[in-house]
Amino acid sequence: MAKKTIRDIDVQGKRCLVRVDFNVPLEEEGGAMVVTDDTRINGALPTIQYLLDHGAKVILCSHLGRPKGKRDPKQSLRPAAERLEKLLKRPVLFIEECVGAEAEKKAHALKEGEVLVLENLRFHAEEEKNDAGFAKSLAALGEVYINDAFGSAHRAHASTEAIAHILPDAVSGLLMEKELKFLVEELRAPKRPFIVILGGAKVSDKIQVIDTLLDKADTILIGGAMAYTFALAQGKKIGNSLSEPNHVDTALKALEKAKAKGVAFLLPVDNAIAEKIDFGGRKVSPLKIIKSEDGIPKGWEGVDIGPETVKIYSKEIAAASTILWNGPMGIFEIADCAKGTFAIAEAVANNSASTSIIGGGDSVKAVKKAGYGEKVTFISTGGGASLELLEGKTLPGVAVLQDKK
Ligand code: 3PG
Repeated sequence: MAKKTIRDIDVQGKRCLVRVDFNVPLEEEGGAMVVTDDTRINGALPTIQYLLDHGAKVILCSHLGRPKGKRDPKQSLRPAAERLEKLLKRPVLFIEECVGAEAEKKAHALKEGEVLVLENLRFHAEEEKNDAGFAKSLAALGEVYINDAFGSAHRAHASTEAIAHILPDAVSGLLMEKELKFLVEELRAPKRPFIVILGGAKVSDKIQVIDTLLDKADTILIGGAMAYTFALAQGKKIGNSLSEPNHVDTALKALEKAKAKGVAFLLPVDNAIAEKIDFGGRKVSPLKIIKSEDGIPKGWEGVDIGPETVKIYSKEIAAASTILWNGPMGIFEIADCAKGTFAIAEAVANNSASTSIIGGGDSVKAVKKAGYGEKVTFISTGGGASLELLEGKTLPGVAVLQDKK
């Protein structure tokens, strides 16, 4: 059921309490914390701008990191508020609290067109406990509740769940709406061929995603360390490659289901392998390409898909009408092991006729690093949230929002 959005309600002159996901990476620079990736702040701009254009008073709340109920200056939302001010090109107020008398005073004093960012919700342990009392204190700041924090919608926390039962309007923001459009609606009846590219380290992280997508996809392309668990399941030698021997059965079940459903389930036919990986120095040595059927020798580790696999996968991608990608093909943080991931990013970007959806986390970083961020149809801002959606789960932060009539 589609959810009501900010376009369906009257926000003029109202104090709009917006849950955003400003859980952005921070780094210390010259004694101050600065935002190193503002993708998520940018993602919330259309909602904030819409509210400002429609005469709302905007109050933004978010978590940042996992401070476990304690105040930690290194996890303050102040740097995010400062970045927002630059992006919005208008003053943004900040308060070092998110509930209580001072926060209420500041929120109630807001004028139309003003923006206030509250301090990290997770400085209060009640937030993650979905505490009704804390939600009530937060709700006292606003008149309307808007959830635009797609990245946090899989959490049933006070600011994403309990609060929506308190304020009279509980609707979705424009980012939330867009995420649901691509990750749910577009994939409900995808244009075919529908190709899914799955990578990342662990089969266990994606068991449910694989199972759900086997019911929908025409082809699944597997890469990343997850491929070595499949290779192990097929009785191949994988040397020292990362794998989950206790999930060999899971891998076999997926292969069986693919066969039964007539889904083409492709595994790498060759791999880049290395003897030594120096993560700190970001290098591997020596690096060589082997055929997967020959197995990975003892003492060597798979670090990327090989050029033959890239060719095969790229051909599949070029023929797709819908592409969903989640998880890198190798250790793309190390330049020598990024070739496979970047080539797949290029293949996805080159198929401009398709709807291409990048499902969050490391694959998003990889696509951007490869320089193709602008060339794909949609990049999700959610990590865990997008995975849970792809698993077919209902997200509590979405379920609680009002349905469109
Ligand atoms: C994320 O980064 O995936 C979201 O902001 C949720 O953060 P969490 O995993 O700490 O709840």
